[in-house]
Amino acid sequence: MYELKEGIDFYIESMQNKKVTIFDTTLRDGEQTPGVSLTSNQKLEIARQLDKLGVDIIEAGFPISSEGDKESVKSISNAGLDTEVCGLARVLKKDIDACFDSDVGLVHTFVPTSDVQRIYTIKKSREEVIQLAVEAVQYIKDHGRKCMFSAMDATRTDPEYLIQVFKAVQEAGCDIINVPDTVGVMVPSAMYRQIKDIAAEITIPIDVHCHNDFGLAVANSLMAVEAGASQVQVTINGIGERAGNADLAQTVMSLKAMYEAKTNIRTEYLVETSKMIENYTGIRLPPNTPVVGQNAFSHESGIHSQGVLEKSDTFEPGIMTPEMVGHRRRIVLGKHTGKHAVKQSLESAGIITNDKQLDEIVSRIKEIANKGKQITDADLYAVASAVLGKA
Ligand code: KIV
Ligand code: ZN
Repeated sequence: MYELKEGIDFYIESMQNKKVTIFDTTLRDGEQTPGVSLTSNQKLEIARQLDKLGVDIIEAGFPISSEGDKESVKSISNAGLDTEVCGLARVLKKDIDACFDSDVGLVHTFVPTSDVQRIYTIKKSREEVIQLAVEAVQYIKDHGRKCMFSAMDATRTDPEYLIQVFKAVQEAGCDIINVPDTVGVMVPSAMYRQIKDIAAEITIPIDVHCHNDFGLAVANSLMAVEAGASQVQVTINGIGERAGNADLAQTVMSLKAMYEAKTNIRTEYLVETSKMIENYTGIRLPPNTPVVGQNAFSHESGIHSQGVLEKSDTFEPGIMTPEMVGHRRRIVLGKHTGKHAVKQSLESAGIITNDKQLDEIVSRIKEIANKGKQITDADLYAVASAVLGKA
């Protein structure tokens, strides 16, 4: 008897049922995407949609960056959402105060720790950076808020110094540490090792924030979770600085379908949420985008179409169905189309043909497609009525 999960024995047992917290930064890092600017109303609507989607934490903005951003974060904090709301702050009191003024429950404070960023941006010594980080954490905790600390550019930071920084903030009462791969230079095996090393020294939860400069943000996030991280930072459609951040849909569906890990995401809203972000940002996804893209569950070739019409997991992962992500399966007619798919499309419109008629319809469809034209339902019905009328 055919077993659905046959061949997928690479599940990593330690990940099964592991709870992973989803931290969404669409409204902060995502809004830093070159050319993207969202209105306060759009941000509030996106926050409501993220809440409906079930994200655990929304990073709503960077309140010190402008009065508008502060107001927008405040309106999201007070919108009565189930999700926790977070604001970003440098390790400066004025930034942290702006987060307090925005009523966020979680303050995410950050400072660069790599030599290159420390020397060329904030121009502070290693010791001064530790002192600033500790003071920021203490200030946040003294005001009764939750605190997450990010060592910006952690993956290019001297590993021994990085552990020193994390130990110092942990000691100061920090609730969670974040390991940002700020310029996206990790490969999955290196990410695994780095998080393992940090997890061996640190007892508070570990979060990761992976950029996608080499297209590895999702893979790096997954390896971080395998190594001991319990929270991942993601954005809808992977938007963010430069090549963006780890994509929420791809990360969550990999965790769910491949590892059988647990998140609070209601995956049936993934496509709906992705479309909202496409519309508000104007950044269109390529059709072959995994999980939510137009072609994620589309089939054109005769062999594939016939296979999925017979049994969907012949040419789909099976462990991820269109229904799970709010998508639908599409059989696309084109030059690779076979008889089976055309017959099925016609029959679903109540058009019954004999074998000879069907052969003629398929041949005309391929003729049109060979001219580089996309076949719409209207084309199919026009061809069918011409052939049936002639017969
Ligand atoms: O990429 C980065 O390092 C960031 C930090 C603010 C976490 O976005
Ligand atoms: Zn970032």
